[in-house]
Amino acid sequence: MCGIIGVVQRKGLVAPFLYQALKRLEYRGYDSVGVTTIANGKLYTKKDKGKIEEVHKRLNLDDLPGSIGIGHTRWATHGIPSMYNAHPHFDCSGKIAVVHNGVIDNFLELRRELAGRGHRFNSDTDTEVIPHLIEEYMEEGLNIVEAVRQVTKRIRGTYAIVAMTAQEPEKIVCTRDGNPLVIGQGDGAAYVSSDIPAFLPATNNMILLLDGEIATLTPDGIRIENLSTGEVLTRDPIKISWTADQAQKGGYPHFMLKEIHEQPEAIRNTLRIRQEVLDAAAEIISKSDRLFLTAMGTSGHAALAGRFMFASIAGILPIFEIASDFPDTVGDVLQPSDCVVAITQSGETSDTIFAVKHARERGAKVLALTNVVGSSITRAADRTIITQAGPEIGVAATKTFMVQLTALALLSIALGRRMEARQASFFDAKSEALQRMPDIVSETIVRNEEVARRVAERYHDRGSFLFLGRGISIATALEGALKLKEISYNHAEGYSAGESKHGPIALIEPGFPVVFIAPRDNTRDRLMGNIMEMRARGASIISVIERNDKELASLSDDVFEVPQNVDAEFSTMPFVVPLQLLSYYMATKRGYDPDKPRNLAKSVTVL
Ligand code: G6P
Repeated sequence: MCGIIGVVQRKGLVAPFLYQALKRLEYRGYDSVGVTTIANGKLYTKKDKGKIEEVHKRLNLDDLPGSIGIGHTRWATHGIPSMYNAHPHFDCSGKIAVVHNGVIDNFLELRRELAGRGHRFNSDTDTEVIPHLIEEYMEEGLNIVEAVRQVTKRIRGTYAIVAMTAQEPEKIVCTRDGNPLVIGQGDGAAYVSSDIPAFLPATNNMILLLDGEIATLTPDGIRIENLSTGEVLTRDPIKISWTADQAQKGGYPHFMLKEIHEQPEAIRNTLRIRQEVLDAAAEIISKSDRLFLTAMGTSGHAALAGRFMFASIAGILPIFEIASDFPDTVGDVLQPSDCVVAITQSGETSDTIFAVKHARERGAKVLALTNVVGSSITRAADRTIITQAGPEIGVAATKTFMVQLTALALLSIALGRRMEARQASFFDAKSEALQRMPDIVSETIVRNEEVARRVAERYHDRGSFLFLGRGISIATALEGALKLKEISYNHAEGYSAGESKHGPIALIEPGFPVVFIAPRDNTRDRLMGNIMEMRARGASIISVIERNDKELASLSDDVFEVPQNVDAEFSTMPFVVPLQLLSYYMATKRGYDPDKPRNLAKSVTVL
């Protein structure tokens, strides 16, 4: 996820508006920032690594000439956050500037080709191939609009692109496929951005640009065409009634709810992790004697679910140890022939980095799984797999958990294939099942939002909750309980359902809420026994079940339903969704801000 802005005005300096717009887009990314304007037939640029405010203090982003410009706030996907990798990117002549959100899958191939024809590259980004391709088409005599149109035929992947050139200084061109772009129609001005809040203070007249369309913005108007046929399209603007704050949250009251809803897209983007990256990681694991997993908090729960996936899909049962205890517990047992997979969404958690340092000191190989390119863990590890959730603002991890599960599933499949743990058809089936997950999670969100609100209404003042599951669902139960305590401040314990009769059952009295995570896997019948035990003692049973599991529904006071036939190894992905929604509605019902829970930080950088 990155934030894009482009503005054409008839008069007045554009740079101060670009800077303010980028601040309103900062939730989409904040590892580096850049702006380029056109004045006197030349491009003027300021860009650097760091948060927008820091870069502004250093460079004064307001201080650029011209009334036409583009800007970008970056969330790295290719190349570490640095001045060189910050957008805009340019062609060889420095006359064409491009900002991009998305991933160009075939950029390596294009880059080799362009370099072979003498193009010089100044960054490690996938984006930079775009201005160089535009340059070639413009040299052939095409104008910028036609050149961009041709470029879209060459690039594969997902993109929202905004481009301009000093040779045609009155316009901005934009197009998209798979990443958002919205256009704002002002008076003697036009705007294009990844999201509405960027231009909302200037205009609330918004025009949607759809995939496969190309738009030209000039101070005199906006022209939208079908990218492949060139047909000119008319589209009436929509009036936006949101405030800038509401718009930044996409109309949701909190970032947490927005991020829960972004999960299908986050999974889809993470499913695009390049096979070479997965294969390289799988190779390291396959050559190791033992596999350890380590992480903290929600990432620890992803590790626990991952442990199950590795065992069931690749036939390897990893050893899991919480990162804060890893050096003490694992100690000298760790050998250079071992491999440690460290999972951390932020890449900055001190406990996890501490564990990684221990692993490196012992000579073990370290693979990092993180959502942040260039974060500390990426420097400490031998290899990194980057998940693609985009920035997560809510302190409670939701979509980053989902992409960790996705990446661990992909890695388990890659490892299983490599080790020939089973027949190829088994892995093909698992890959297909994983591809269906964005839709399954999407349906789960839609089905359960209202139910979660109702259940929260009913139980918000119960004070204490038990979350129970078996097998992989222990990880789901632990995550459900963590979410509830983190943001609604209800006491909650996640537990193995099998183990619950050896202690927690003593807590049960009439009306005590027990949440069961009950997929239709081979734990279901035994879990049903646990439900009976709790019911017999008067517990209120809240179950997360597969749709049409009438038997379990009849034993429950409240049910959340997940689509049928979810593969056992991936069940945490849909089954955790109702629990995220439940904790969200519990918190809001109790009057707490779910985005900023007390005493917690998004990333904890103390040991
Ligand atoms: C903090 C956050 C948790 C998170 C944990 C690990 O405690 O509040 O939500 O799960 O850190 O964070 P990481 O960035 O390493 O995944």
